[in-house]
Amino acid sequence: MSTVSVEIQADQGVARLTITRPEALNALNRHVLEDLAEAVGTLEDDPDVRVLVVTGAGRAFVAGADIAEIAGLPGGAAAEAFSRRGQGVFDRLAASRLVSIMAINGYALGGGLELALAGDLRLIAESARVGLPEIGLGIIPGFGGTQRLSRLVGEGRALELVLTGRQIPATEAWRMGLANQVVPDADLLASADRLAQELAAKAPVALRAAKRAVRGGLDHELATGLAEEAAWFGHVAATQDAREGTDAFLSKRSPHFTGR
Ligand code: COA
Repeated sequence: MSTVSVEIQADQGVARLTITRPEALNALNRHVLEDLAEAVGTLEDDPDVRVLVVTGAGRAFVAGADIAEIAGLPGGAAAEAFSRRGQGVFDRLAASRLVSIMAINGYALGGGLELALAGDLRLIAESARVGLPEIGLGIIPGFGGTQRLSRLVGEGRALELVLTGRQIPATEAWRMGLANQVVPDADLLASADRLAQELAAKAPVALRAAKRAVRGGLDHELATGLAEEAAWFGHVAATQDAREGTDAFLSKRSPHFTGR
């Protein structure tokens, strides 16, 4: 049975992916990671889906990589391969044409926070807690946390979370820029769905290009990033949607985007 459930609202261009292993607070064992990779791959190939909401079933988003699996790792090359496998799954999401919104409910610890960091936007429930507790297990984050957290919130705050392993509440995560918005627990999914629908209504080529320009630029120095931005701008400006969007503004009407 799959540990990841997917609901698609094709008419809205939106899908919701729910990690469903609540008996272990959705801890990412090999099976969950495989299901997640498969679900993201399938959605990536679905032309009806442009925006993805990711959340966890029960009282956690994801409470980390599965500690029982980590305990059985012999270390060295096998553990490095384990880290690479997890990074690969999250990289696929980060590089996806799909825009992803992480709806963080309950615990997002270790691999759970690393999954949230691979997404594009993060909404966090008031009662949620996030952290990278690996140091307390005698290990370090291995699914991208040491790299993505520092890029998002800066070296000082990332080091604080990585070195102390401290769990922080939602408001603190928001204050440091880790989460985009804190929402009441009961409104989390509705807020994420609303945001997903809002994004899915944007011009699809522009939405994709905007994500790629920002994310791609972070891998380069400024001059290269600016050249990439200009190339994306050229690509997007050639679309019918660019003409529609600008015409609609000038004629004081709402645009109707078609993805061409
Ligand atoms: N890996 C494997 N199993 C996990 C897990 C993980 N990362 N996180 C939670 N679980 C399991 C627990 O072992 C427990 O299983 P059991 O009922 O068979 O004993 C079940 O999920 C419920 O967790 P429990 O610890 O009883 O819930 P809690 O409310 O008391 O505490 C947490 C919640 C999140 C604080 C606690 O589960 C925890 O610290 N988890 C590990 C977090 C972590 O270090 N993640 C990084 C891993 S690299």
